[in-house]
Amino acid sequence: MNRTKSLLLCFLGIAIFINTAIAQQKTTAQKVDELLKKMTLAEKIGQLNQYNGDWEATGPITADVGSKLDAIRRGEVGSVLNIIGVAHTRKFQEAAMQSRLRIPLIFGQDVIHGYSVTFPIPLAEAASWDMEAIEKSARIAATEAAAGGVQWTFAPMVDIARDPRWGRVMEGAGEDPYLGSLIATARVHGFQGKGLGNLDAVMACAKHFAAYGAAIGGRDYNSVDMSLRNLWEFYLPPFKAAADAGAATFMNSFNDLNGVPASANRYLMRDILKGKWGFKGFVVSDWGSIGEMINHGYVKDNYEAAEAAINAGSDMDMESRSYIKNLAKLVADKKVSVATIDEAVRRILTKKFELGLFEDAYRFNNAEREKRMINTAAHIEAARDVARKSIVLLKNDKQLLPLSKDLGTIALIGPLAKSKKEMKGFWSLDVGDEKEIVSLYEGMELAAPKTKLLYAPGCDITDTSKAGFDEAYKAAMQADVVVMAMGERPDMTGEAKSRSNIHLPGVQEDLIKAVMASGKPVVVLLMSGRPMVFNYTADHVPAILYTWWLGNQAGNAMADVLYGNYNPGAKLPITFPRTEGQIPIYYNHLNTGRPAHGDNDVNYTSAYIDLPNSPKFAFGHGLSYSTFKYSNLKLSKKTMLKTEAITVSFDLQNSGKYAGEEVAQLYLRDMVSQPVRPVKELKGFQKVMLQPGETKTITFTIDKNKLSFYNEALEWITQPGEFKLMIGSASDDIRLEDSFLLN
Ligand code: BGC
Repeated sequence: MNRTKSLLLCFLGIAIFINTAIAQQKTTAQKVDELLKKMTLAEKIGQLNQYNGDWEATGPITADVGSKLDAIRRGEVGSVLNIIGVAHTRKFQEAAMQSRLRIPLIFGQDVIHGYSVTFPIPLAEAASWDMEAIEKSARIAATEAAAGGVQWTFAPMVDIARDPRWGRVMEGAGEDPYLGSLIATARVHGFQGKGLGNLDAVMACAKHFAAYGAAIGGRDYNSVDMSLRNLWEFYLPPFKAAADAGAATFMNSFNDLNGVPASANRYLMRDILKGKWGFKGFVVSDWGSIGEMINHGYVKDNYEAAEAAINAGSDMDMESRSYIKNLAKLVADKKVSVATIDEAVRRILTKKFELGLFEDAYRFNNAEREKRMINTAAHIEAARDVARKSIVLLKNDKQLLPLSKDLGTIALIGPLAKSKKEMKGFWSLDVGDEKEIVSLYEGMELAAPKTKLLYAPGCDITDTSKAGFDEAYKAAMQADVVVMAMGERPDMTGEAKSRSNIHLPGVQEDLIKAVMASGKPVVVLLMSGRPMVFNYTADHVPAILYTWWLGNQAGNAMADVLYGNYNPGAKLPITFPRTEGQIPIYYNHLNTGRPAHGDNDVNYTSAYIDLPNSPKFAFGHGLSYSTFKYSNLKLSKKTMLKTEAITVSFDLQNSGKYAGEEVAQLYLRDMVSQPVRPVKELKGFQKVMLQPGETKTITFTIDKNKLSFYNEALEWITQPGEFKLMIGSASDDIRLEDSFLLN
């Protein structure tokens, strides 16, 4: 065959492929249209209605199960949440298959950090700065959930949060829009795998659209008041990343944004999401958030609530019953057009077709697969790996850690030392057996069988009794080293779990003080879903690990790090304040006209007279058992045009004794700009594995996109001028600096 002929054949092949793809695409759209034509208005409205199943609720449940099954048979329900397991979901799907048009249900569930095998809470995973590990954790969660009859997870939560009082910081990726966007992408890819229609993929749901994390005072469900520039700069990027990654659905939010509840926010849903961003999936409300607009004072009743929500772009009503009760009348009254209803229904049916539910409504109901795919050895191993990647070494004076496996006796003290189910943290499911969860005590026993463990709880988490202090002190006196497992209860973070006081609760810091009096070397492990305040511990205890809630493999992961089987490399994705008075506190703030120079500069500067400005632990902070040297910074040029890019390179050396990973961070500052820009913004990072003594040359590329921002007219622009470039180990540990000009 000659060259021209084979080229022609090749083109023909491509053309046929493209045509088939277009034809297939059309087929889904056509199928949806055909079905829509057969549907009565009532059946269409049914598709927009989502009910809770018969367990787990985060709001009032509004009907009994029997009547829900009847409603499903009448075609009045499009989706059900909080029903899992193939047998259970099948029972509900069978009811849907008895409806006139046999339109299958979608089963949704908060699969936030694992299904049966529980992974670390999302904030903990964010500390790994490891996109592969994060994607893998979501992939496994999706595989297990799909095998358990679920097709839709209400995750990832991509809300930026600068306020650790807010209980839901545990569910997101922290304070930074750059890191948050990468994590949003990784999670969406993980959940949706090779795409909807595969039996191990679930629909992702980016939530809560938008700005829920900026609730005033950190009080859950509170109002949000922010400039649109702030919204676009800091709060929207992770949502945009999720949409670009192909998230099938979005969830709106409980909060109002500048006076307009998110569930009726046309600007967010119609202008931005479905307009500017071209989002093709559907938007579900948050639990009861459409009806709650009456409490907001935005509408007077459920009739008006439904009108405002559907017209603004909320496609599915989760548990408000506003749509099912009012949309027909709203159409009759000409307040809502049939075209608006059709658009919402079309979006939902498209996903049902993509999930393959019309071909086989029970394709996710295979009992053998459910058994086979859940809790596999590979899933458990992955959970252990992500868990140790999430542990942040805050402090390690005199290299107290890692511990030797030959120690004679360790006193294991603290209210969380033997805890099991607590390790799962908030937003975990009651799937699986408590026996599968590894406590710290068990993990340490397994890791160093020769060492004797003396256990003493010392105190309770929140109780103020000091009755156990003596026993703890005595245990410490008999030990070579003391390990203390301290923290919050898992239900002290999560939805509706805001705290005004984020100190380590109860008398735990007193217990740490009492144990420190033994003079023995002390290691404290802090378990929590948020940054806590623990100044005595931070100032006096030589070694501190922040372990968040690590999931089923918590104990093994903590022991891996304690004994140096794994060298910690995690970095804080959120700032730790010295005390609540500093909140909101975040690294990417503006400079102000009177910036304080250092922590003691209070002379008419922007400072507190009773508190330094710096945080206790900064964004990006996290130590390793090794040390890393940064040197030899080179810029490919000192002046760049908007059409060009600068390559930045430097040498990173492992200058310590242990092989380990460093997250090298790149920050930029636009020195003169209108409007003004933050003192520092993360614009790149690399997690690099280095053997002792090994050096690698690291490069970053800076292009126009990294230098752009939103101006007052919300246009994405760059301004010429000087940019400062900072490379370091944390936002407050910059090792290399230079600057360049944008022309
Ligand atoms: C939460 C959502 C969650 C939903 C369903 C609401 O209370 O805000 O994030 O997905 O409940 O459980």
